[in-house]
Amino acid sequence: MIKVENFDLTPLNTFRMKARCACFVEYGSVAELEAMDWDSLPKPIRHIGEGSNLLLTGDFRGTILHSGIKTIKYLDMGLGDVPVMVGSGVHWDDFVEQVCGYGLWGAENLSLIPGETGAAAVQNIGAYGVEIGDIISGVTCYDLHARKRVKFSREECGYGYRDSFFKQTGGRFIVTGVLIRLSRIPRMRLEYKGLKEIFADKAPAGPMDVRRAVIDIRRSKLPDPAELGSAGSFFKNPVVSAADFARIIDISKRDFGEDVHIPHFVQPDGCIKVPAAWMIERCGLKGAVQGGAAVYEKQPLVIVNASGSASADDVLALEQRVIDAVRDRFGVTLSPEVEHLG
Ligand code: EPU
Repeated sequence: MIKVENFDLTPLNTFRMKARCACFVEYGSVAELEAMDWDSLPKPIRHIGEGSNLLLTGDFRGTILHSGIKTIKYLDMGLGDVPVMVGSGVHWDDFVEQVCGYGLWGAENLSLIPGETGAAAVQNIGAYGVEIGDIISGVTCYDLHARKRVKFSREECGYGYRDSFFKQTGGRFIVTGVLIRLSRIPRMRLEYKGLKEIFADKAPAGPMDVRRAVIDIRRSKLPDPAELGSAGSFFKNPVVSAADFARIIDISKRDFGEDVHIPHFVQPDGCIKVPAAWMIERCGLKGAVQGGAAVYEKQPLVIVNASGSASADDVLALEQRVIDAVRDRFGVTLSPEVEHLG
């Protein structure tokens, strides 16, 4: 176990916000969590992964926990389904690269997503038509209230769009392991427009082909956190009712002409997901600058630390500008996807 007081969180958040926490604890096993002297730690207690979906809005007066559980256990290397127990501290994309290398299907569309496996299971990361909740069979946790180990089935995890039971329970459950169900039998998910085009003439030979295609798409659209600070998509894509979508169509025809095309995705319940990127672009905010922060030119759903020294206030002001502009034009209130902590 590593315990450091007055810890600098700047290298632990991909937005590269400058902030410290009163105490930082990295544990290497569930046994270390069980043996922890919780009462002595500064409160509140929060858990982070690699800080890749996080906006630090200031110094944190409590304790930041971080998982150092990095085990990957293949529970059955049979001919069909392959269950794998992945430690919460495993860098998600290392895992994806490994399983694609073994020819196992299921995780390839989630290639190159920054962050660790535990945080991925909390946020229900998603990309290119797949969410991690689709391939999770169960999650093991440490319950901070009852101070004991607990297990949750996939159903109990309550997965929704960038949402889970863990997000609703205020950090009570520390995810320690994620049971992922992969398959030797191809289970391709190629509906996303960019992937469909790439594999229109020739189906992928294995999951590594899909992984390479996903990596190419991501690199062409999203900033590399090693080069430009960001936390990926800053906002969630709003899901609106059919009546609200009809209103968005009217507004768009009025403002952009009768032949305007609004990208949208009808959900199983009849509601409609409208890309926030499209609305932000239509508000003229692509590339908008606020102090050191900016709306990313190639993908306006992302806010970047353009100067390298943007403050949290710059980012918060830009967040508000985007929310106000989209609400004023389309009557839709965007919600941040990035977690705020400070
Ligand atoms: N669009 C524009 N202008 C742009 C970019 C996009 O109008 O400059 C429109 C286009 O119509 C495009 C649509 O927005 O078809 C969707 O864009 P994209 O496919 O890039 O996806 P997104 O909705 O912006 C979501 C996820 C991403 C994920 C991609 C691919 C959220 C909040 N974001 O973005 O996840 O990689 O789909 O599946 O759902 C993340 O969570 O950090 C993240 C990067």
